[in-house]
Amino acid sequence: MTADLLENAPDVRPSQQPMAEGAVLLRGFAKSLEADLLAELSDIVAQSPFRHMVTPGGHRMSVAMTNCGSLGWVTDRSGYRYDARDPEAARPWPAMPPSFRELARQAAAQAGFGGFSPDACLVNRYQPGARMSLHQDKDEHDFGAPIVSVSLGLPAVFLFGGLKRADKPQRFRLEHGDIAVWGGPARLRFHGVAPLADGEHALMGRQRINLTFRKAR
Ligand code: SIN
Ligand code: FE2
Repeated sequence: MTADLLENAPDVRPSQQPMAEGAVLLRGFAKSLEADLLAELSDIVAQSPFRHMVTPGGHRMSVAMTNCGSLGWVTDRSGYRYDARDPEAARPWPAMPPSFRELARQAAAQAGFGGFSPDACLVNRYQPGARMSLHQDKDEHDFGAPIVSVSLGLPAVFLFGGLKRADKPQRFRLEHGDIAVWGGPARLRFHGVAPLADGEHALMGRQRINLTFRKAR
């Protein structure tokens, strides 16, 4: 089969794949919105560019980050926190576009979490080799709301662990347009991303972008 035929073949992956109780992968859920998402992203990045933040331990993260929404997740030598302002631009983060908010709301509802109203969207940029080590999302005040995580660009291997760091993670391939949602009993599961393999995505080039929607307050 030629590459062209493969690209035009129907997506035979199941449209919803359970990862654990309270956690599901919605395959291709963001695909129809890709043009809008990319246009909004370029506006966001023009106002608050990607930067490599530093962990409290002094480690420069391989993933470059920015945010949109009323709160943005940041890390520096003093710790992890949510901040209403972009510390580099010294002004508020760009607003969360209505299409972002609506996509996150619909994905959460599809996964069984009705009424999701995110106030924070962390934008992660992975270039080849970038990775995210296993962690829990626990800087939010309210663990009642799920995490909604949108993948764009190059495929990645998502590591989805248990409630203890030592639990062996399952591996899921995340492709352009896929959305992972985890909440309820899965809300505090450890997760991460394996080092990004090099490649060229038709729309996004040599990178993967992840949008992580959260209710921080
Ligand atoms: C994160 O946990 O913040 C990022 C997850 C991902 O890039 O898929
Ligand atoms: Fe996370």
